[in-house]
Amino acid sequence: MADDSQNSTTPSTSERIADYKARFHEAVVESNALAQEKQHSKGKKTARERIDELLDLGSFVELDEFVRHRTSAFGMDQKRPYGDAVVTGLGTIHGRQVAVFSQDFTVFGGSLGEVAGDKIIKIMDFALETKVPIIGILDSGGARIQEGVIALGKYGEIFKRNTKASGVIPQISIVCGPAAGGAVYSPALTDFVIMVDKTSQMFVTGPDVIKAVTGEDVGMEELGGALTHNKVSGVAHYLAQDEDDAFNYARVLLSYLPDNFSAEGPQYAAETDLEITDRDRRMNEIIPDSASVPYDVTTIIEGIVDPGSFLEVQPLFAPNIVIGFGRVEGRSVGIIASQPNQMAGTLNIDAGEKAARFVRFLDAFGIPIITLVDVPGYLPGTDQEWTGVIRRGAKLLYAYAEASVPLITVITRKAYGGAYIVMGSKQLGADLNFAWPTAEIAVMGGQGAVNILYRNDLKKAEEAGEDVNAVRARLASEYTYNVASPFLAAERGEIDGVIEPAATRSVIVKGLRALRNKTPRTPEGKHGNIPL
Ligand code: HXC
Repeated sequence: MADDSQNSTTPSTSERIADYKARFHEAVVESNALAQEKQHSKGKKTARERIDELLDLGSFVELDEFVRHRTSAFGMDQKRPYGDAVVTGLGTIHGRQVAVFSQDFTVFGGSLGEVAGDKIIKIMDFALETKVPIIGILDSGGARIQEGVIALGKYGEIFKRNTKASGVIPQISIVCGPAAGGAVYSPALTDFVIMVDKTSQMFVTGPDVIKAVTGEDVGMEELGGALTHNKVSGVAHYLAQDEDDAFNYARVLLSYLPDNFSAEGPQYAAETDLEITDRDRRMNEIIPDSASVPYDVTTIIEGIVDPGSFLEVQPLFAPNIVIGFGRVEGRSVGIIASQPNQMAGTLNIDAGEKAARFVRFLDAFGIPIITLVDVPGYLPGTDQEWTGVIRRGAKLLYAYAEASVPLITVITRKAYGGAYIVMGSKQLGADLNFAWPTAEIAVMGGQGAVNILYRNDLKKAEEAGEDVNAVRARLASEYTYNVASPFLAAERGEIDGVIEPAATRSVIVKGLRALRNKTPRTPEGKHGNIPL
């Protein structure tokens, strides 16, 4: 028989849970109210607000919600009794599963101690186990000073997992506040770093330490602000105008990525007409008549990928090479394209490193690579030689040579010297290589070649009072016609054919269809030794 008196006084299970949650959150809110106010006054969202913004509405399942901060092993008094400096859990983006952690600057400045570290480690392990992408939202003062070696150790455990996850699941970092000290290296190990303009900074040692050690005066923004890392250092891949822009970019970026290295990438409905259209015919007009006149390669990219699908990555760093995602027949492709309107599209150290890391990402996640080539060569100069263009330029060679995803390369204009080889050449392992009739494939450009090959003739012409520039131009044009012609390369089978620009899109569509079943090579040995 039911005991009515007990029923009326004992709270039900759901009441007990609700009561615990309410008391817990009240305590958290109470202890953090001031810090949250400060956070908002800086134009920054709180950790949970950011998660809500990033994930599909209502999809977030928090893990370790009730985990409590423990007093430091070193007995230092840490004020706040509830929560710790990170919120972790699962959710969806466009209906696809992701794991997420969001550092909470309102608790110990988002610093990483034992409990916060363990929470991040747990969610990373979950992501690795279930093979879903992981997104980290960073806002942290680095290793928690009160927790000494324990804090440092947790960083080590996180870095180990970042590395284990590399090439297995996509890893995206969104930096929304400071990422100081150890906090920078987890993002550095991830595939994409998004930084919010004006409110995010990344640095290993801050302005005060720099001033004390070297005497150099530098502000936080100049040292490690979002613009610096997007434009100068190349640490970041996207400069977000504000936090909403950052979360939106992350959501869009994810729409090009598979869940993991062995999963099929997302496929969107797309109608593909293989007939040559007016849009295709506009490709015939892009290359200027003069070889020295630049053009914008993104117009060629836009003409190849599904309309509106091009998403540029790292646009501000080394703009002489363009990298990004697009879709062809609704499936993701990666684009690497030299950009003739920036430094004439020459390759330098920054461009090589930018493209190499992207090639390796695409290869790891099975995304086909389309390469567009118009490169006059490597940038000459002591600056490049002394900062390691040999060692660092070799990264792109290595990345292409190692890649086993479908590779299609189109040479639109100049493909000179080492730059011809490195930019997805047939000889490095590309599956299909085509050239436009405007292509020039040679050891070097006509002018340079003539200066070496016809030095004596040019001298004689000068002595005979002839117009040397006119002679040089005639010889250079003969050289370009006789030696650099793409038809010669095609005759020798060095490339697979010469195509009309208007046919490029349809050739690429057919090529990608044909390469759909290409089996990736399994590397021999433990791993290669890419020049780092
Ligand atoms: C513990 C920290 C902290 C940290 C900040 N806080 N950083 N607590 N450990 N590392 C606390 C502050 O004491 C303060 O607490 C609250 O967080 C907010 O910090 P503020 O300084 O008031 O905020 P702000 O002015 O916005 O400055 C943010 C900051 C600055 C630039 C990040 O706090 C800072 O310089 N912190 C130290 C950065 C650092 O040197 N970290 C260690 C790096 S070494 P209250 O209670 O006052 O609100 C490292 C080694 C790892 O990480 C190496 C692995 C490879």
